[in-house]
Amino acid sequence: MTDNPNSVERHYTQGGLLARILSALTEAGHDTDRLTADVLAPLDHLHTGGSGSTMAQADAIGFMGDDHVLDLGCGIGGPARYLAATYGCRVTGIDLTAEFIDVAKELTSRCGLADSVTFRRGDVLDLPFGDDAFDVVLSQNLSMNIADKDTMYGEITRVLKPRGKLTSLDYVQGTVGKPHYPTGWADTADISHLLPPDDMREVIERNGLRIIEWVERSDMVVAAAAKPPAPQGKPGSLGLHVALGDDYPVRQRNVVRNLSENRLRYIMIVAERC
Ligand SMILES: C[S@@+](CC[C@H](N)C(=O)[O-])C[C@H]1O[C@@H](n2cnc3c(N)ncnc32)[C@H](O)[C@@H]1O
Repeated sequence: MTDNPNSVERHYTQGGLLARILSALTEAGHDTDRLTADVLAPLDHLHTGGSGSTMAQADAIGFMGDDHVLDLGCGIGGPARYLAATYGCRVTGIDLTAEFIDVAKELTSRCGLADSVTFRRGDVLDLPFGDDAFDVVLSQNLSMNIADKDTMYGEITRVLKPRGKLTSLDYVQGTVGKPHYPTGWADTADISHLLPPDDMREVIERNGLRIIEWVERSDMVVAAAAKPPAPQGKPGSLGLHVALGDDYPVRQRNVVRNLSENRLRYIMIVAERC
């Protein structure tokens, strides 16, 4: 069990999230009874780089229609819906935050994807699935909230089929001091558990996974942040602030500063069960 699940869940819970999302979609001119993964994409991939990062992971894995994917720490289900809609995969999402799971189920049903994408509340440290159950595990901006990484990677290995793949997006420590907070995953260091890159590699590999790719995405994030901002949206403009709250820009600015100052690195990892 996560050492401080209540604090983690509290960090991600806003209250009234579904209403906020539906209202933003309505203002942007969408029919909220007939949604698609594409329409939701600007606001429901809750990690750095949004849907573009999910696509980079999908390219690295080469998903197949008959894959059963586990989305660990699935948030409100954007990446899960993307994989189902684009590749025809069956996806199971699990997340600690009850509000996210409720919203994930509702949005998925409004996209007509509930037969292929299912969600349940749970802790990644105690996965309610049998051994060898999944072809691929997807994890995006999750590991920073997990103190006990040995148990998490052990659980990932257990539920993956032999030669099954993990693809993850993770922040790891840079070489220059502690990060500035708040960040997307934590207001303070209390629920932030970052490892130096070599320790991260070690914990993954000693738990039965072989790292195939370790791709630095830090510079890409900093370069994207330096581009002139998109024209400030009309009321109802869609973006990660809708799901992550009005203080999202402050958190994101800190993340970019941490990357620029080498207090954090952002990595895409692909690993295979040995
Ligand atoms: C930054 S959000 C990313 C959500 C999603 N992966 C995405 O990219 O759209 C991190 C997610 O990890 C979840 N999380 C953190 N610790 C967890 C745990 N021990 N078990 C399950 N989910 C957890 C949070 O509830 C949150 O939804």
